[in-house]
Amino acid sequence: MISTNFDNIKVNKDWAFDRVRSVEQWTHGYHRYPAKFLPNVVKKIIEDYALPKYPIGDPFAGCGTTLVEAKIHGFESHGVDINPVATLITKVKTEPIEPKFLEKYYSLLISQLSLFNDQIFYTIHKHDKIDYWFYPEEKYKIAFLYNLIYEIDNKDIRDFFLVSLSHILKNCSKWLQSSTKPQIDKNKKPIDPFSSFRTHTQMMIRKNKEYYNKLFDEKKINILCDIQLGDARNTNWDTDSIGTIITSPPYVTSYEYADIHQLTGYWYEYFDNLQQFREKFIGTSYSCDSNLSVDTILGQKIINDLSKKSSKTAKNVAHYFNDMSKVAKEIHRVLRKNGKAFIVIGNTTVKGVHIQSAEVFWDLLKKAGFNANKKNIIKRNIPYKLMPTLRNIDNGRFAKKTDPNTKSVYPNEYILVVEKK
Ligand SMILES: C[S@@+](CC[C@H](N)C(=O)[O-])C[C@H]1O[C@@H](n2cnc3c(N)ncnc32)[C@H](O)[C@@H]1O
Repeated sequence: MISTNFDNIKVNKDWAFDRVRSVEQWTHGYHRYPAKFLPNVVKKIIEDYALPKYPIGDPFAGCGTTLVEAKIHGFESHGVDINPVATLITKVKTEPIEPKFLEKYYSLLISQLSLFNDQIFYTIHKHDKIDYWFYPEEKYKIAFLYNLIYEIDNKDIRDFFLVSLSHILKNCSKWLQSSTKPQIDKNKKPIDPFSSFRTHTQMMIRKNKEYYNKLFDEKKINILCDIQLGDARNTNWDTDSIGTIITSPPYVTSYEYADIHQLTGYWYEYFDNLQQFREKFIGTSYSCDSNLSVDTILGQKIINDLSKKSSKTAKNVAHYFNDMSKVAKEIHRVLRKNGKAFIVIGNTTVKGVHIQSAEVFWDLLKKAGFNANKKNIIKRNIPYKLMPTLRNIDNGRFAKKTDPNTKSVYPNEYILVVEKK
């Protein structure tokens, strides 16, 4: 039997968006987030295909690109993510605050920064790892700022400033600035938390105002954006309730979101035990499952090939495919009849084996009951800046074509389009 293969699908240039990119528009630029959507892609899906009047859902909501775009287009939306950093960012990005009200709190907060006394070692009952990532100078300033924010009586305002603080933590730490992965840079001179916070928050305040005014003028301010900490394998969304799903699942063994967001995780006490936190994520290389059997012919072939190279990687990828099988069934359950799912997904190569996640997920979607016509699949190039195409196998860093020990990472990606019958 010939297995599913997308190699012959032609790249669709209409989806490249290499001239006008909307990454800084609205609230999209509040917080860095690995593998986040290009907002143009979501915008085009909504404008060209979304089922009018019915909610849009994203079960891997990340930093909320789908939900921000849904609101601006006048759609109700629902999102879940397993990562509390993601749900905090999404909540703040989708619920703009009345600009004058926000500015009042900002002025007050900034005026209090002058009370900081570098002779006082502000008490922080925080995780030991904070001392690993921060020098005392920055640590005490962050603790001071964090306490000021926590004293604010309004939760929306508090969350707004927490997102800003979360974004600047990396800049103020010893974390190698150019790396997504956790790595100490002994030569780094961290940025001053107060000035960094001021600059970033001012940008957020400007963007909040633009988003707020646009939504207010168009009477969209109160449109529902429901973001919850939850699991894509088992959401609490009603059966047959969602009109359109627009989502991008995690890539297999590539981004460890738990590790990447550990600075915020430790400061905001989202978790105590990093190992346990990691295991909740789909696509993690910390999964501890020994099952090597998966539900599609192509998936099984990939696992068998990988087993010859590394049994641990084979188990991780099998675990990923099995999780994605549950996700396919779940999105089928929540979509209403004639509702469509748009899944943005890329392939990669690990240990020399081509991991065709897109093709495998396509097969899983069909097994879950979806109407799936290969002609509807959209293949798009990923611009280099958003996602480098080559990485070193050992340390995961960006690599050149001439380096020997490299793997290619998503030079292009697919938008799988399926419909519930
Ligand atoms: C590729 S990112 C999504 C990015 C998103 N499209 C955006 O624009 O920000 C994948 C997301 O899946 C989330 N994730 C991983 N495992 C999950 C699970 N079991 N349930 C829900 N979300 C999960 C990660 O936390 C991450 O935010």
